[in-house]
Amino acid sequence: MRLEILFGYLLLMFGSLSIALGAFVGINIGTDLVNLPSPEQVVAILRSHQISHVRLFDADNHLLSALSDTEIEVMISVTNEEVLRIGQSPAAAATWINKNVAAFVPSTNITAISVGSEVLSTIPHAAPVLVSAMKNLHKSLVSSNLNSQVKVSTPVSMDTIPIPFPPSTATFNSSWNSTISDILKFLQTTNSFFMLNAYPYYGYVQSSGIFPIEYALFQSLPPVKQIVDPNTLFHYDSMFDAMVDAAYNSISAYSISGIPIVVTETGWPWAGGANERDATVENAETFNNNLIKRVLNGSGPPSQPAIPMNTYIYELFNEDKKPGPLSERSYGVYFSNGSSVYTFGLDTSSQTALNASGGFCVARKGADTTSLQDGLNWACGPGQANCSTIQSGQPCYMPDTIENHASYAYNDYYQKMRSVGGTCDFGGTAITTMVDPSYGSCIFTGSTNSSIGGMVTPAFGPEGPPGNGSPGQLLDISVLLLATVVSLVV
Ligand SMILES: *[C@@H]1O[C@H](CO)[C@@H](O)[C@H](O)[C@H]1NC(C)=O
Ligand SMILES: *[C@@H]1O[C@H](CO)[C@@H](O)[C@H](O)[C@H]1NC(C)=O
Ligand SMILES: *[C@@H]1O[C@H](CO)[C@@H](O)[C@H](O)[C@H]1NC(C)=O
Ligand SMILES: *[C@@H]1O[C@H](CO)[C@@H](O)[C@H](O)[C@H]1NC(C)=O
Ligand SMILES: *[C@@H]1O[C@H](CO)[C@@H](O)[C@H](O)[C@H]1NC(C)=O
Ligand SMILES: *[C@@H]1O[C@H](CO)[C@@H](O)[C@H](O)[C@H]1NC(C)=O
Ligand SMILES: *[C@@H]1O[C@H](CO)[C@@H](O)[C@H](O)[C@H]1NC(C)=O
Ligand SMILES: *[C@@H]1O[C@H](CO)[C@@H](O)[C@H](O)[C@H]1NC(C)=O
Repeated sequence: MRLEILFGYLLLMFGSLSIALGAFVGINIGTDLVNLPSPEQVVAILRSHQISHVRLFDADNHLLSALSDTEIEVMISVTNEEVLRIGQSPAAAATWINKNVAAFVPSTNITAISVGSEVLSTIPHAAPVLVSAMKNLHKSLVSSNLNSQVKVSTPVSMDTIPIPFPPSTATFNSSWNSTISDILKFLQTTNSFFMLNAYPYYGYVQSSGIFPIEYALFQSLPPVKQIVDPNTLFHYDSMFDAMVDAAYNSISAYSISGIPIVVTETGWPWAGGANERDATVENAETFNNNLIKRVLNGSGPPSQPAIPMNTYIYELFNEDKKPGPLSERSYGVYFSNGSSVYTFGLDTSSQTALNASGGFCVARKGADTTSLQDGLNWACGPGQANCSTIQSGQPCYMPDTIENHASYAYNDYYQKMRSVGGTCDFGGTAITTMVDPSYGSCIFTGSTNSSIGGMVTPAFGPEGPPGNGSPGQLLDISVLLLATVVSLVV
């Protein structure tokens, strides 16, 4: 509990990864670190940022338990070590599904299984059984009646596309022709999606100066340096877009369409060895924050503008036990003590409009009544939420329950304070939702039906346009919140 408070405090200063209409940014959780926080602490970190989607590199049962009842969508993984056995044995697949999926759904919202990691490019000898592993897992899901909610796919590295630019002529390395073809047929028949691991960091470093770094970091390019595909005349604003289009084009060579791509890994290291000079805090901060903006804008790459580029950032923590170059241990956005490596999240993006397009904040179903009352008191008191409409006789008074009143107050606070670092947590009693909780004449703040929707002025915080809060101002708010959270818990 104490540590959660500390995390809450540290994280309040930074924004959140929330959902824009249709598109999401999730995060990978690697666990190869010395001081790995407990599963409960990990979940506290995720919740304090309203992280909505996570991917695990295994199916750690403790973490899956901790993720129950959180509304966080979870992708779990079959490790490369497990692929061979599951590919050769339907019984092993069934055991795996029972132990790691059936035992946890629906309270833990497992929605996908990534089978192996870059199997084709890292353990090619396992390629012949990869698709049978996927099929065996899928069959087990069918027998458990879980196949419509849990999708099976396998992450493919950009390394399988030897010449990704221009995207219009990109193709998979023909050595993998038959495996790729089987994967795509499987994804199409099971209504699943293609998992792509795409790192502009490596694309940039390996291009030895052909592309400007601005292109890799989603920064604007001068008119004379526009990156254009000569065949389609599509302008590529970022290497990330171009990589996703390269994969769409590689898929289209198989005359298969309609399979969306989800980027299961991307990221940028913030530290590196002597020969990794682009691995800097500044570049990592720029890449990840611009990535969030790009993905949450909801449009797809130039060839598939209607398909959002849903993405999982690599990764939550620095995995300091990983071997290899320093950069491999430096992808995390948080240290294991929960403090952020750099400013990360929506507070630096353009997504700071005081508007519920980032969701509403409501009381969690089944939250403890005493904690809800504490949260309600805080929101209407120090939190400066406008609680007049939940007073007796006012539109949101009925139903006269603590849960209903807390929802109104939490949301009013959240809509006003989100842009300056306010979070939807309230000691774990609050949760965000995209569903407008308004009913009858009770209109929640930020609702499009609200006369003040989108026009709310922060009760306190920075002068001038929202989103320009200096770290100092955010810190003041955090300290105030910290003091209150501590008093709530004591
Ligand atoms: C799990 O996530 C899916 C996809 O967002 C959603 O439709 C479903 O309602 C969620 N299930 C639960 C139990 O929260
Ligand atoms: C394609 O893959 C094979 C097998 O891994 C490899 O030997 C070959 O160099 C690759 N081709 C290209 C163009 O990368
Ligand atoms: C895959 O290989 C087959 C047979 O060699 C060939 O006919 C087909 O064109 C190839 N497909 C792709 C997309 O490379
Ligand atoms: C989203 O980003 C892309 C790429 O930068 C851009 O072309 C597009 O206009 C943006 N869409 C919106 C709605 O801002
Ligand atoms: C968290 O860990 C990092 C890296 O070890 C360190 O720089 C930072 O000061 C720590 N923060 C706190 C609050 O202990
Ligand atoms: C609080 O909300 C009520 C009802 O929407 C409104 O009339 C009142 O002006 C608000 N008070 C403040 C201080 O914003
Ligand atoms: C908002 O207004 C629209 C149009 O008047 C109506 O259809 C919708 O039900 C309202 N939503 C709520 C939550 O009141
Ligand atoms: C609120 O969000 C909608 C999209 O949901 C957007 O069109 C509108 O401009 C936003 N309002 C403000 C004040 O930013």
